[in-house]
Amino acid sequence: MPRMRDKTVLDVGCGDGLVSYSFQKEVGAIVTQCEVYDSRHPVTSEIPFTLTSAESLPYLNDLLDVVYARFVLHHIDSNVLVERVVKEMARVTSKQLIIHEEIATPRTNILVAKEYDERMNALFNPDHPMKVYNYYSRKKLNRLELNPD
Ligand SMILES: C[S@@+](CC[C@H](N)C(=O)[O-])C[C@H]1O[C@@H](n2cnc3c(N)ncnc32)[C@H](O)[C@@H]1O
Repeated sequence: MPRMRDKTVLDVGCGDGLVSYSFQKEVGAIVTQCEVYDSRHPVTSEIPFTLTSAESLPYLNDLLDVVYARFVLHHIDSNVLVERVVKEMARVTSKQLIIHEEIATPRTNILVAKEYDERMNALFNPDHPMKVYNYYSRKKLNRLELNPD
């Protein structure tokens, strides 16, 4: 992510926070993190953090250069509209929204993928069970990004 140097980056659903911590350490980004559940690694303690759900981000319009969400959308509770989350993330960035996501194709066995995903997350985060609510297709994600309304 070399283009993140000196850019303000919001990591939405940061989890342990280590990915955007590396953007700050290795690339020179100016990072802020937010999450609905605080499971940050202690090394990230200096990074500004807000406990919030991605559907309602407490940041001004266009505040951040980059908004980044990795492996978050498929864990968004089904009570929350993913369209609303994408719209909210798009609202707070003036330049770039990066969604790094596991996508479903017609060949994906959703049940197997969900079980594997949930089991792996339980291994790494035993205190924070992460249900998989929905895998999105590339087409659906592109549509959400291009037309967040
Ligand atoms: C698989 S983890 C990914 C964590 C981190 N982004 C990473 O790549 O290491 C998914 C994260 O999304 C968070 N999450 C789920 N729903 C959320 C929401 N409505 N708002 C913000 N974060 C959410 C979960 O708490 C969880 O930490």
